[in-house]
Amino acid sequence: MRIFLYFLEYFLIPQICWTHQYLPIDRLPDWKLKNDGNIGPSYGQPEQIRISYGGDPSVSFVTWQTFDDTLQSIVEYGSDWKFLNQSVLGRCSVFLDRNKNSVWRYIHRANLTALVPGQTYYYHVGSEHGWSPIYFFTALKERENDGGGYIYAVYGDLGVENGRSLGTIQKMAHRGELDMVLHVDKYFGDFAYNMDESNGETGDEFLRQIEPISAYIPYMATVGNHEYFNNFTHFVNRFTMPNSDHNLFYSYDLGHAHFVVSSTEFYFWTQWGFHQIKHQFDWLIEDLKKANENRKNVPWMITMGHRPMYCSDFDGDDCTKYESIIRTGLPLTHGYGLEKLFYEYGVDIELWAHEHSYERLWPVYNRTVYNGTHLPYTNPPAPVHIITGSAGCRENTDVFVEHPPPWSAVRSTDYGFGIMRIYNSTHLNFKQINVAQGGTEDDDFWVVKTSEKHHRPFKHRDLKKLRTYGTHVPDKYCHHHSHCPMEKKKKRTRRHQHHF
Ligand SMILES: *[C@@H]1O[C@H](CO)[C@@H](O)[C@H](O)[C@H]1NC(C)=O
Ligand SMILES: *[C@@H]1O[C@H](CO)[C@@H](O)[C@H](O)[C@H]1NC(C)=O
Ligand SMILES: *[C@@H]1O[C@H](CO)[C@@H](O)[C@H](O)[C@H]1NC(C)=O
Ligand SMILES: *[C@@H]1O[C@H](CO)[C@@H](O)[C@H](O)[C@H]1NC(C)=O
Ligand SMILES: *[C@@H]1O[C@H](CO)[C@@H](O)[C@H](O)[C@H]1NC(C)=O
Ligand SMILES: *[C@@H]1O[C@H](CO)[C@@H](O)[C@H](O)[C@H]1NC(C)=O
Repeated sequence: MRIFLYFLEYFLIPQICWTHQYLPIDRLPDWKLKNDGNIGPSYGQPEQIRISYGGDPSVSFVTWQTFDDTLQSIVEYGSDWKFLNQSVLGRCSVFLDRNKNSVWRYIHRANLTALVPGQTYYYHVGSEHGWSPIYFFTALKERENDGGGYIYAVYGDLGVENGRSLGTIQKMAHRGELDMVLHVDKYFGDFAYNMDESNGETGDEFLRQIEPISAYIPYMATVGNHEYFNNFTHFVNRFTMPNSDHNLFYSYDLGHAHFVVSSTEFYFWTQWGFHQIKHQFDWLIEDLKKANENRKNVPWMITMGHRPMYCSDFDGDDCTKYESIIRTGLPLTHGYGLEKLFYEYGVDIELWAHEHSYERLWPVYNRTVYNGTHLPYTNPPAPVHIITGSAGCRENTDVFVEHPPPWSAVRSTDYGFGIMRIYNSTHLNFKQINVAQGGTEDDDFWVVKTSEKHHRPFKHRDLKKLRTYGTHVPDKYCHHHSHCPMEKKKKRTRRHQHHF
């Protein structure tokens, strides 16, 4: 009976790979069935150790992989590395990506709970068939020195090859200079390419390369276009994000911020189901509504998604279009556009990647750019967009159009990554570190809300402020007279038109 159940589970589970499905705890792996102490799992050594935030500073998720069923998934931990005298039993899933020569991957997950914020824990993961090295992490707690808050590394488009920012971020993680990583997409280099060639080994290699970061600080992931393969199966099955059993969209609070992660990819890989767009959109409405009710306690609202709404890159991507799909929704129907939704619920900051460059935008809504005042980032009447997708991958960095549209405030095509620090309910700082120039700063700016009551859904008076001091950018806007000499004369009058 047990054997029958075991086989049933084995063949059923890989079919339902869109959520985390765990193997039964009392299963009998094939090596165990032989009931011979000389026979054990062939590959029981854990690898790709990563921790993620459990949605509360007292909870940390630990995830790792083996290439054989080890039966047990254990984390041993403690506040002294010589006494890992606490232990927790996790669960294990089989992950088959349904590729030609699908590799059997065993993904182990365990929850560490009742952690004391600010306390450092040493841990290793595995089973009697193999243990990882001992790593450590500090349960999340607001910083006590120079201003407080949390420090986040923010980047996208970090690949296995040419991962130029990797070394700097690893070192910062070891030195306690970062609290969390917000990875805004694209993990596996040229994913589709490598997937076919090497059956997901690129994914394994990527997760090994980030281990010197992800074993020490929570690594939070956002799905990107390179994970589209087989309905994002690698992304769903390899990560463990809070408040979700699929990782594709989820949200959490940390300190003064509510983070909302969503998939822009549903809009582009519709072969996996149009319903996913609506499903996510309905979830977003509910989540943003709830977060606004709690805004007094958690004032900052920050979204993360892979493909931006605006950009000034020279590559014909969605964000270069007059009506980008992410911004205005599906073609013709304009359904499920994200710009209006995020505006109506008063999102403060929108983090994007996909473009292999760094670009900070002036506050912008519906192509009206708020650049006409002294302090555009103090109580801005529209969300602030930041695109940071130049961490380094084998596609190199992207080229910008020579004369950027008015929404572009600062841009750089050098390799680098962002450092966001949320000090308190009024002050947020963002820096872009240039690793190509040895760690100089491409950008350093503040978003300030003079009081907590400025964290709220945007209202009519914001729109008025935006129109009064802003610049509307119509279709075929003449960025520079060299681009559209015919428009030269009209230019001056156009600049002062404000349509919505
Ligand atoms: C674990 O060991 C530490 C000493 O290193 C001790 O203080 C603590 O009480 C022990 N915890 C348990 C649960 O035994
Ligand atoms: C960890 O906790 C979450 C709830 O926060 C739960 O959904 C999940 O099943 C737990 N995972 C394991 C491996 O116990
Ligand atoms: C918030 O942080 C900023 C930057 O460190 C600081 O200038 C400001 O005084 C802080 N506000 C409060 C209320 O602590
Ligand atoms: C892809 O996964 C989603 C759940 O994340 C599911 O609803 C959808 O049906 C799947 N698509 C296909 C084509 O199986
Ligand atoms: C705002 O952008 C427009 C269009 O690029 C530009 O002409 C104007 O000078 C900008 N205003 C400020 C204050 O920078
Ligand atoms: C944005 O502006 C365009 C005209 O420029 C208008 O047609 C559209 O309705 C506006 N959208 C929103 C959401 O306000």
